[in-house]
Amino acid sequence: MVIALVLCITLFIWMIMWHVYGKQNPSSTTYRTSTTEFSKLTEAYIMQNMVGSDNGIPIVRPEPNTNVFLMAEMWRWSPVLILEKDQSYKFHISSKDIVHGLSIQPVNMNFQVYPGYDYLLEFKPTETGEYKVICNEFCGIGHHTMIGKIVVIEKDEDLKLYGFKDLKKPAGKAAAKKNEPLTEAEMALMGEQVYTLKGCGACHKTDGTSLIAPSWKGLYGKDEHVIVDGKKTTVKVDDEYIKESIQNPTSKITVGYENTPMPVMGLSDEEIAQVIAYIKTL
Ligand code: CUA
Repeated sequence: MVIALVLCITLFIWMIMWHVYGKQNPSSTTYRTSTTEFSKLTEAYIMQNMVGSDNGIPIVRPEPNTNVFLMAEMWRWSPVLILEKDQSYKFHISSKDIVHGLSIQPVNMNFQVYPGYDYLLEFKPTETGEYKVICNEFCGIGHHTMIGKIVVIEKDEDLKLYGFKDLKKPAGKAAAKKNEPLTEAEMALMGEQVYTLKGCGACHKTDGTSLIAPSWKGLYGKDEHVIVDGKKTTVKVDDEYIKESIQNPTSKITVGYENTPMPVMGLSDEEIAQVIAYIKTL
């Protein structure tokens, strides 16, 4: 009885002490949002700030003291973030579909991420390194592959340590600043973002390999064999043909890819023009 009592009291005291000396999960402020609204915000945010891509996931390098959007979806965390040590960021975290768990390793910070809620979290990394964002809420067959990345650096040279080589200037930001039409190079950069964000790369490679869809490398201007209404013919790959292929993928089907029809992606005219500019550079 005495031992049990002492143990109880000790644990009780520790309960209070832990608040002061223990490692606490920081607390977030929660706002109501909708999945569509949050994904729109995140997509716009990435468009503006993207500097490259890491295995198909956009990379963003936010300015200190700004809003940062991090979205969970089956089965990825987007974007990859490059942060600076000892700078604060306002993280907005939400899910696009179902409940996920945000777990930053190896520091072991854990949050649940519900769709429909925007978790606002003051985030200030105090040590450099590469952190994994692991999903710790079972969310389907791809759950174990849902690993995001946060890299904390001190100076620009550190980027090399983590394998980030040619990061670009955010194209969207330059575009938003000036009211002039975009240059061809800026258009191409935006097109590359569309390619990453919309997942075009799942089928269309840019290195000349073509497994389930024609590669975009050297595509522009070449003669493509296509099937129109069951008949084989040849078309020149130009702006018009690419636009038609995006808006109405089944009107002309490239010979050799009859069995892997392309889905309608719902791109805006502007996005299509950007994609065309990007294809031209390949
Ligand atoms: Cu997301 Cu498990």
